[in-house]
Amino acid sequence: MSYYGKILTLSHIILLGLFVQVSGSRLTRWWDMAVGRGDVDASAGLCALAVAPHGYKCEEHQVVTTDGYILSMQRIPFGRNGGAGGTRRQPVLLQHGVLVDGITWLLNSPQESLAFILADSGFDVWISNTRGTRFSRQHTSLDPKSRSYWDWSWDELVSTDLPAIVDFVYKQSAQKLHYVGHSLGTLVALASFSEGKLVDKLKSAALLSPVAYLTHMETPLGILCAKAFVGEIITNWLGVSEFNPASAIVVNLLKGFCSQPGVDCYDLMTSFTGNNCCLNASTVELFLKYEPQPTSTKTMVHLAQTFRDGVLTKYDYERKDLNMESYGQTTPPVYNLTNIPADLPLFLSYGGKDLLSDVSDVAQLLDDLKQHQIDKLSVQFLKNFAHADFVMGVTAKQVVYPSMISFFHDHDK
Ligand SMILES: *[C@@H]1O[C@H](CO)[C@@H](O)[C@H](O)[C@H]1NC(C)=O
Ligand SMILES: *[C@@H]1O[C@H](CO)[C@@H](O)[C@H](O)[C@H]1NC(C)=O
Repeated sequence: MSYYGKILTLSHIILLGLFVQVSGSRLTRWWDMAVGRGDVDASAGLCALAVAPHGYKCEEHQVVTTDGYILSMQRIPFGRNGGAGGTRRQPVLLQHGVLVDGITWLLNSPQESLAFILADSGFDVWISNTRGTRFSRQHTSLDPKSRSYWDWSWDELVSTDLPAIVDFVYKQSAQKLHYVGHSLGTLVALASFSEGKLVDKLKSAALLSPVAYLTHMETPLGILCAKAFVGEIITNWLGVSEFNPASAIVVNLLKGFCSQPGVDCYDLMTSFTGNNCCLNASTVELFLKYEPQPTSTKTMVHLAQTFRDGVLTKYDYERKDLNMESYGQTTPPVYNLTNIPADLPLFLSYGGKDLLSDVSDVAQLLDDLKQHQIDKLSVQFLKNFAHADFVMGVTAKQVVYPSMISFFHDHDK
């Protein structure tokens, strides 16, 4: 391996790989936009930016987690045909994946975007935005520029973000809700369910591109990641900090990597995310205007640990004494998915071209669910779909959402 190869493969490939998973489009294009952006005016909020222009009513809400993060949520209480009828609308919560935010549910036309389709189908729609992303950067005492603001992994999304937002919607609507998660939004839900959390407040959960195990990301990049991601490397390099894919440091690393002879970043990207069948070029354009969004470096490390270890556990401090301090044991506790209550209605939809939610990893998840009550588990396999198609694909309105909605109607109690 060349000198460049050596320095670049370790941390840098990992960063590249882990962020392109969601971008679903041409990397070079993204750079140009990432560098010149900052023109997105977030101050008016997501409702004003992406919902109101389509003629839907939309409310902004704020939810404070037990550790002080102020999360924004948007509610589309009813569809374009109005709120008349006096029927009690079923609440549904949409939880996006890593390195993106709630806007991903709103980028296609209203006839194609899940949030609008649900509203027009009579649901009371709630959109969440994970801590650290554009619309959820406030904290009761911490500054997003400080290190302590970023001292969390996806464990905290399980232990504080999700309970806060689910509780909030549950109280506002005075009934149990349906949950829709994509990518990391499925992982945090499954981890919660395995601890018996949230299940008393949910009617059902729909998991799109379910991610629980990541062992089978069988791309050359993936394998390099697995080998390279020993905690030390990343921890020393970035430490506890913000992981912002649009920051100069990350952009420059990627450019450096992609400018190596023989490396074609377009192919690298496709080989990582999978070949999305059904994205609309104008939607991708919009996506790149708003995404990717930051997360914590610890979240990225935690995901890489899942990939490396093949077991779903809490964040591994990679040192016995530190694990002992946090968990009272030398290894991080397991999220055991076989403990997911067998009567929780689950709808899973996964794609044959999805290299992140790989078919073999989904098989392992389904194996954990083999004791699940048959009438409470619905599994859909779409052979042409890759990771982003579930949220932004133009055919999802025909092949995914109608079955999901009828599943919700079948489990409305
Ligand atoms: C793609 O999106 C644009 C802009 O919303 C729209 O005009 C066009 O009809 C869409 N194409 C498809 C195939 O959905
Ligand atoms: C999960 O729990 C089951 C049943 O108690 C057990 O057989 C299995 O080994 C556990 N898995 C892990 C990864 O701890």
